[in-house]
Amino acid sequence: MKVLVIGKGGREDAILTFLQKSKEIEKLYCLPGNANTQKKAENANISEMDNEKIVEFVKKEKIDYVVVTPDNPLSNGLVDDIEKIGVSCFGPNKKAAEIESSKIFAKNLMKKYNIKTADFEVFDNCEKALEYVNSLEKFPTVIKADGLAFGKGVIIANNKEEAKEAIIDMMQNEKFNESGKKIVIEEFLEGVEVSLLTFTDGKTIKPMVSSMDHKRALENDKGPNTGGMGVIAPNPFYTKEIAKICEEEILKPTINAMQKEGRPFKGCLYFGLMITKNGPYVIEYNCRFGDPETQAVLPLLKTDLFKIMKATSEGNLENLEIEFEEKSCACVVLTSKGYPEKYETGFEIRFNQEEEENVFIFHSGTKIENEKILTNGGRVIACSCVKDTLKEAIEKAYEVAEKIEFKNKFYRKDIGKKALNKPIYSNV
Ligand code: AMP
Ligand code: GLY
Repeated sequence: MKVLVIGKGGREDAILTFLQKSKEIEKLYCLPGNANTQKKAENANISEMDNEKIVEFVKKEKIDYVVVTPDNPLSNGLVDDIEKIGVSCFGPNKKAAEIESSKIFAKNLMKKYNIKTADFEVFDNCEKALEYVNSLEKFPTVIKADGLAFGKGVIIANNKEEAKEAIIDMMQNEKFNESGKKIVIEEFLEGVEVSLLTFTDGKTIKPMVSSMDHKRALENDKGPNTGGMGVIAPNPFYTKEIAKICEEEILKPTINAMQKEGRPFKGCLYFGLMITKNGPYVIEYNCRFGDPETQAVLPLLKTDLFKIMKATSEGNLENLEIEFEEKSCACVVLTSKGYPEKYETGFEIRFNQEEEENVFIFHSGTKIENEKILTNGGRVIACSCVKDTLKEAIEKAYEVAEKIEFKNKFYRKDIGKKALNKPIYSNV
């Protein structure tokens, strides 16, 4: 079979790495791809937002299956357009992808189906939002743009002033264009975060190993929010007891709710969870694999990834057993200094790392020019390592991270520290 993967990040590089192992696939394509995806697949220089050109490409190359994982193409209806020509996809259609692309839709869904989430109010009027914040007594409070905002649409406001500034930025100054015209203001939840990726065919839902992202740019969870600076998997805070509660009270109800709303969800549904002293809450849903969660979760997957993907689109996930290694994976993301704000790119990358079993170097933002690999984004490389214990996995991932060199390289030195320090929980 010929399989096309849409995207250009570390997540797509990881997906290609594991699709390569499938005997059923004779050729892989990636669009637009990066310096590393072109070693595993044929890159095509087409924008991931150009549905018409992508459909043309799928027809021309006689592609049998398309994997769509970035949020923007999913909410742009790429799956709908490809399925129209009779080609199957991994990923939700536009209506189901709204679980991520509209925070208001997701919050109302959870309210309607009694899925635990932070209390919230919705606003489409700036004055009313400001009035509401004025009346609040408890801070921090959380201000969220309704639509997609490159991972920057969530502001934790520590006081009235910060909250007002965020509201004015989003609603009046249109900082996120259309995405911020409507907002959600919600209760601040305290606890430990868990990223839980799942496979679903719309009826059955099967969790992958849990993981822990590190979203802030700087050590000890300081600095601005980023797409993710590193991950460990599994997440020791996600105990068996908590997993059971989540499956019964969050995972299954969400899939059933989407079906009842006429938006059956197929693909990877990502649950951003907060484990609080009152149990697990949903912070957010993503309609896709997380980046960099994928780079730490897929190295632990034992089952053929392509087989699982097809089962989600064919609706027979129930009969497929999905297995993971009982090991740990740590992923350290190397970024361009200054990310997520201003940073420079175009610097040569030197790897100095021999190929080694259980070590994965995924490219997030790279390109090839004159046979040199150059930095080409905020997040540049994700170094993942699988070992028997989390401690060993972290040590090895850092050993690899240190060897890779480029100008303005920056990375957090405390990935997994929280998980190592307090691995056993009865209560958070
Ligand atoms: P999101 O863009 O929805 O992933 O949110 C970014 C980050 O903001 C999350 O990973 C949390 O760390 C934080 N966050 C979002 N909503 C809440 C909330 N209600 N309470 C506490 N933290 C939150
Ligand atoms: N790492 C968080 C995300 O993919 O949204």
